[in-house]
Amino acid sequence: MTKYVIRGGKPLFGEVEISGAKNAAVAIIPAALLVDGVCRIENIPQISDVTLCLRILESLGATVRSINSHTVEIDATRIRTTRTPYELATKIRASYYLIGSLLGRFGRAEVSMPGGCNFGGVRPIDQHVKGFTALGGKMMVEGGFILAKAEGGRLHGANIYLDVVSVGATMNIMMAAVLADGNTVIENAAKEPHIVDLANFLNSMGANIRGAGTDTIKITGVSSLHGGSYAIIPDQIEAGTYMAAVAATGGQVLVKNIIPKHMDCITAKLLECGVEVEEHEDTLLVRRTGRLHRTNVKTMPYPGFPTDMQPQITTVLSLAEGTSLVTEGVWSSRYRYVDELRRMGANIQVDEKTAIVEGVECLKAAPTQAYDLRAGAAMVIAALAAQGESEITGIHYIERGYENIVEKLRGIGADICEVESPDDDAANANVG
Ligand code: EPU
Repeated sequence: MTKYVIRGGKPLFGEVEISGAKNAAVAIIPAALLVDGVCRIENIPQISDVTLCLRILESLGATVRSINSHTVEIDATRIRTTRTPYELATKIRASYYLIGSLLGRFGRAEVSMPGGCNFGGVRPIDQHVKGFTALGGKMMVEGGFILAKAEGGRLHGANIYLDVVSVGATMNIMMAAVLADGNTVIENAAKEPHIVDLANFLNSMGANIRGAGTDTIKITGVSSLHGGSYAIIPDQIEAGTYMAAVAATGGQVLVKNIIPKHMDCITAKLLECGVEVEEHEDTLLVRRTGRLHRTNVKTMPYPGFPTDMQPQITTVLSLAEGTSLVTEGVWSSRYRYVDELRRMGANIQVDEKTAIVEGVECLKAAPTQAYDLRAGAAMVIAALAAQGESEITGIHYIERGYENIVEKLRGIGADICEVESPDDDAANANVG
């Protein structure tokens, strides 16, 4: 096991290149199972969640060929089985996308219950099940596996109204419906950039999906999808995390390979905090010189402020002048990291879904743990801003979603290294 050692208190300067979007990649890779032919996928981030997705596809019989570090070719023409290996699929949340893709293409799927970051509370999939059932899937849970079967071997189109706006359910139903017989309409659909990315990927392989990015998605089923080439969009949350790091430490960094429109919800909040953000075609120049100002943040589905940036913005606000309120509007609880920030001198109280953040002048170095992916990102930001040497354990969570974070941060002047850690308790926690 390894941990990060960060000597903080230094402003960041330079340029950082953003990788492909994790939450698009972990949907598009399973969606390649729908394709009869070779899919070339470019701008794939090198992160452990992606490695796991590719291994699951190989275990089902797909051929996965690495063209270079960020491009793979997947050929799912000869799938051997529709049953995912228990030990792999339970490690990631995104394994639920295998239900939609296998059910859509082969009329059956046996997928172990999904794992993923456990940031408190349950992560239900009732809306996915509601969608598959409407499309004619028979759903059962047996021996830790979700069993799904299409009556007559093929799904049929349906009108589906989601009771909650769910990224996962929207994408999963979309995957199941592209090869279904007839028309499907998903209402109250999620609108995140990775939903549009998945629709664009599927359309480029011959699917007929309209309206992705709005709350009504219309799909006309086609008989098969063909091979093709597709490049994944840049990661909005990775970019936002580097922007938050500059906000917390001060300095000036050019964040490269982004889509500025996807960043608007994050940029708007950082501007309120007194951070300067200059927008160019596919870059943002982020600068912070004076003291940070307080603001309020509420997380919401896109185009609202993303829940996956909540721990990072709370860390920034812990250094702002005045009292800020952060309200979590997507997950019932996502504040476990706050105890770790308090150990670094932050003054934050949590009352159910709201964190009351009294800004302090500075954070102090401390040993901390990453309890999940974004909480880990918040720990890194806090350590970069804090005076002195901090250690962060549980970094395998961070590596699930941030490509080369150590090298990227070193490239903008951070003093961070990864060292052996024999006693990494968080690494043994029962979450994947
Ligand atoms: N929900 C239901 N029923 C469902 C599905 C969701 O009630 O069937 C509720 C959830 O409890 C939650 C809300 O709906 O309150 C939104 O959940 P959503 O389905 O949108 O989340 P998800 O698909 O499980 C993805 C990302 C998360 C991100 C959320 C919200 C992946 C693999 N995960 O999860 O990303 O927080 O959308 O944007 O795409 C992360 O990257 O750190 C991460 C946790």
